[in-house]
Amino acid sequence: MSTQAHAIAEFERYFGHHPSFVVRAPGRVNLIGEHTDYNDGFVLPIAIDRAVWIALRPTATRHVVLHALNLKQSAEFSLDSIQHENQQWVEYIKGVAWALQQAGYLLGGWEGLIASDIPIGAGLSSSAALELAATRAFAAVSSYPWEAIKMAQIGQQAERKWVGVNCGIMDQMISAVGHAGHGLLIDCRSLKTELVPLPPDITVVVLDTATRRGLVDSAYNERRQQCKMAARFFGVPALRDVSQIEFDAKAEALDPVVFRRARHVISENTRTLQAANTMSQKDAVEFGQLINASHISLRDDFEVSSPELDQMVDCAQQESACYGARLTGAGFGGCAIAIVHANAVQNFTETVAINYQKATGLQPEIYVCTAADGATITST
Ligand code: GLA
Repeated sequence: MSTQAHAIAEFERYFGHHPSFVVRAPGRVNLIGEHTDYNDGFVLPIAIDRAVWIALRPTATRHVVLHALNLKQSAEFSLDSIQHENQQWVEYIKGVAWALQQAGYLLGGWEGLIASDIPIGAGLSSSAALELAATRAFAAVSSYPWEAIKMAQIGQQAERKWVGVNCGIMDQMISAVGHAGHGLLIDCRSLKTELVPLPPDITVVVLDTATRRGLVDSAYNERRQQCKMAARFFGVPALRDVSQIEFDAKAEALDPVVFRRARHVISENTRTLQAANTMSQKDAVEFGQLINASHISLRDDFEVSSPELDQMVDCAQQESACYGARLTGAGFGGCAIAIVHANAVQNFTETVAINYQKATGLQPEIYVCTAADGATITST
């Protein structure tokens, strides 16, 4: 049974009647353009074929009544007095309601059943997916138009101001705007997007190291601070505004750590734009080399890799079917991605799993992904 059908059936079981809509919002992996979004730079993610689904029905009340199938937990809150509590998943939905109301949207109540096949905590943006699914649910019951980019911004507000995670805009944008078969080149300053077709003979494989690091948030915030310091040094609003030539001319006077952080961001922006070009030209070899270079820069200059991520990337790169591999997302643990020749995926995943396990003693999770559409709604 598909996750959508499952969500409908479970809604009927739990609430005792048929839902009016099912909304769906996907998780993501980033192909290239890492730690560039909060520097007003460029990112190139795909929405993946794993998503959060909410089957829902409007109610005549001012309440949102929820059941999360995977977690077997229920919750309810009033739109008239949204309070912080400690049930993490509900906070994302409350945060969306709060951000929508702050932005002047008039919201109606609903009851909803949430189902998801995005692994939680793996770095595949299950939280952004939940936020975007919630924006679609509120739009459906409140009769306001669901505008993808505005709703991505609402999701980001919810996460930053309500949940308290200081993220960029990439995860919410791709969950909102993603397109099947395509990567999305996002200019994180103007929020202009460009669809970039995936080369036909490649498959995107997500390699979960089965490691999670604490303190990711503080390390992430520290990187943001260092990037800000570098931008201030160059006298510009964000590192996006520093060219390689300006960097080479002036950067020597920077503190050595800040120097390396800035060098990553500036070179990663260039690589991301080049990657979009090579993808459009169906040049998987050149695309893969840019991905490999991104990993080296994240490892050595931005210092957000880990021994397990390096090991996983190494295992992937050793395979002849692999065009390129790198850590993806915030780093420190979680997932790498590999771009693999479509004909050799099965052999690739089996060999990498064995070799990674031999080297680390850890059992990896491997997801073969296709690029999916951004958030959708269906009447049931
Ligand atoms: C996390 C954040 C994104 C982005 C990446 C790093 O996934 O949520 O906004 O900054 O890290 O590229």
